[in-house]
Amino acid sequence: MLKNDTFLRALMREPVEYTPVWMMRQAGRYLPEYCATRKNAGSFLQLCKNTELATEVTLQPLERFPLDAAILFSDILTVPDAMGLGLYFAEGEGPKFERTVRTEADVAKLFVPDVGTELKYVTDAVSSIRKALDNRVPLIGFSGSPYTLACYMVEGGSSSDYRNIKTMMYARPDLLHRILEVNTLTVIDYLNAQIEAGAQAVQIFDSWGGSLPYGKYQEFSLQYMARIVAGLKRENDGRRVPVIVFTKGGGQWLEDIAAIGCDAIGLDWTTDIGEARRRVGDKVALQGNFDPVALFAPPAAIEAEVERILTSYGGGTGHVFNLGHGISQFTNPDHAAALVAAVHRLSRKD
Ligand code: CP3
Repeated sequence: MLKNDTFLRALMREPVEYTPVWMMRQAGRYLPEYCATRKNAGSFLQLCKNTELATEVTLQPLERFPLDAAILFSDILTVPDAMGLGLYFAEGEGPKFERTVRTEADVAKLFVPDVGTELKYVTDAVSSIRKALDNRVPLIGFSGSPYTLACYMVEGGSSSDYRNIKTMMYARPDLLHRILEVNTLTVIDYLNAQIEAGAQAVQIFDSWGGSLPYGKYQEFSLQYMARIVAGLKRENDGRRVPVIVFTKGGGQWLEDIAAIGCDAIGLDWTTDIGEARRRVGDKVALQGNFDPVALFAPPAAIEAEVERILTSYGGGTGHVFNLGHGISQFTNPDHAAALVAAVHRLSRKD
């Protein structure tokens, strides 16, 4: 039995005693203990692939802060790596792929990898983390959305304008649809494998869906996430496994997102969470939406911002507090502590 299931109850819009909180990228470089473990591992990818070390860094933020959920330590780019694209991290430049997927011939070569072998290190990490958590809090599994994964596969790394993938979308939509098809089938297998290994909720990170024009978002990103939601195992061990969809920059499409059958929508900070609740709160829970940059302000300002978000959401359940995007590596961990404490203190319903 889970000792703290507040996060899962809030996602199911069941009564809670306070608003649960976790932070996107809660395990990472803003924690000195993470930097030390990563140094021992040799590289970020070796850290992801080493069960013991991935377990250790997943638990690090929970040792510091009373967070209500843990998130698997891994990366969304393990999926294109398993497709043979050769992921590496160039120092100071972010993720890169040895091979890109841009031509008709590249697309023809794409395949759905065997998740059970190629990504076994991820499901091994899930099982190991569940054991180490000992039912303290639930464990979140995750994947990138088909479109967000395709951004990295086509661009070969991060991009400021998504020129290659968007050109493909306008010039050869058939090629992009084929990539998205392969990604969708892979993500369904991948998330189901994480659920079977013990992930108690899953989040789909659609980090770049918000860069698409109206209409194209629905066709090239949302449609495929809908297929994933429909293909997931939604119950495990006698309990619902909630699905959270996070499209950064997706605030104008909340009704469309709520309609795909997910349990919760992740919001970035540009949306008013109270207004979002009025629009879709009868269908889904909401997760968010503190601007991660506000963590650079002093604790009093952080608390004021937490209070503004909690007040805007209003009472009752259905809110999981989070940042609107990942925590910055330059954040002072004491400020993250102030955020977590403020959420718990200000939301407690006595
Ligand atoms: O949230 C967590 O603590 C779990 C682990 C996690 C990581 N990446 C670890 C990571 C999760 C959920 C991700 C998701 C991810 N990865 C996304 C979607 C969320 C988002 O931020 O939009 C994306 C787009 C990626 C791809 C990626 N991985 C980039 C662009 C980078 C480089 C930029 C950066 O922040 O360093 C990574 C590397 C990465 N993934 C790090 C971590 C802790 C830093 C690696 C290091 O230690 O050097």
